[in-house]
Amino acid sequence: MAKKKNTKANALWGGHFSAGPAAAFAEINPSIDVDQRLYREDIQGSLAHVEMLAAQKIISAKDAASISKGLKQIQAEIESGKFTFTPALEDIHMHIEARLSELIGAVAGKLHTARSRNDQVATDLRLYSRHALRALDAALRELQAALLVQAEQHTATILPGMTHLQPAQPILFAHHLLAYVEMFQRDRTRLEDAGLRMNESPLGAAALAGTTYPIDRARTAKALGFAAPMRNSLDAVSDRDYVIEILAALSLVAMHLSRLAEEMIFWSNPLVGFIRLSDAFTSGSSIMPQKRNPDAAELIRGKSGGIIGALSALLITMKSLPLAYNKDMQEDKRAYFHALDETLLMLAAMTGMVADMRVHKDTMRRAASRGFLNATDLADWLVQTLAIPFREAHHLTGKLVLLAEKKKCGLEELSLKEMQTVHPKITRDIYHALALENCVARRKSEGGTAPERVRAAIATAKKEYL
Ligand code: ARG
Repeated sequence: MAKKKNTKANALWGGHFSAGPAAAFAEINPSIDVDQRLYREDIQGSLAHVEMLAAQKIISAKDAASISKGLKQIQAEIESGKFTFTPALEDIHMHIEARLSELIGAVAGKLHTARSRNDQVATDLRLYSRHALRALDAALRELQAALLVQAEQHTATILPGMTHLQPAQPILFAHHLLAYVEMFQRDRTRLEDAGLRMNESPLGAAALAGTTYPIDRARTAKALGFAAPMRNSLDAVSDRDYVIEILAALSLVAMHLSRLAEEMIFWSNPLVGFIRLSDAFTSGSSIMPQKRNPDAAELIRGKSGGIIGALSALLITMKSLPLAYNKDMQEDKRAYFHALDETLLMLAAMTGMVADMRVHKDTMRRAASRGFLNATDLADWLVQTLAIPFREAHHLTGKLVLLAEKKKCGLEELSLKEMQTVHPKITRDIYHALALENCVARRKSEGGTAPERVRAAIATAKKEYL
């Protein structure tokens, strides 16, 4: 049996169509499942547009009033869950316009004067991004606050600082946490910066070339909180660089989250035992009763790939598109919204995990006393007290490390006599230099791990970041 051809053309743009879409087209074309979340911004943009049309006498004040009233009613319907979405109406813009004509009749058709879905969607997405950036900033700030609460409790907690994931030098746990506070602060400023750059209005660019109506773009820009209208109509409807910029900033957030997640997975491993993650963010095993798996941290690490993937997806989508609008761009929102949702979720999970984690100071301290973390300090003592060149001091210290390794003890446990086998002028004073607390306390250089520096850094972060 031959397939029946769909003869129902689209009511909003199908004036010159005699046949409707093929089934596969009807499925590939709509974006309503994704862009229905733009309803508020879409209505906000339409309200500003219609107010301007009336002010410019392009439509009558009466028509504008009835359109505005209808739009507000639609917003209420959507928010109360009474609105029905259907793929046949493609996207959020057509849903709202179609419902508007049901509500107020033919006058609804005047709303789209001097406008196109191209400048409409570009406007909606910028408005939506503005809100999203606010939510992201708040979530990043919450995470910084949680890190700072933990940091404040651990300005005397010493753990092994690592390079190459090998014990390197003793540091304060607070100092380690503050490193992430800084990373997340830069992430916040990157997002803020993207927000400033995108804050220009595409509305009034119409389909691509501007419009023949005497519109007032400055008026709608102002009404929507934009700094100014975008200067070029083609650019206004066809670029998505602001989405890409935000995705790039989110990729960095995700990368930072993933690194922290990785560290928490490592720290919570029973073989390491530096922290214990709470029940609320871990799971057990159905077969191994002893297990406490750091699932939330693993999922944060895992999901970071998806965020970075969204960035490349959109870069690749955009890179070969000629000006101006192309339907390819409809795909921007799927990846973008997903990345926004996921990042907020990852931030919430990380904030909870950080707030809940129990820190095992004694285990950290014990780990710091193994692995000769004070070797640099021994060499520094030789340099500073005996005026030995650093390279030579490094060599002499290496010999002592070898000796301590053989004796299975720490450097500070070698006797003075043993110390003096590498240099006769070594005095008892050296033991003071080797105490871990002193190793940490002496790193007073700006940005260093000395407790006084760390306490000041916490105070500054609380004042400037929270
Ligand atoms: N749903 C479309 C999108 O998200 C809106 C713009 C459609 N414009 C067009 N000329 N078909 O990109």
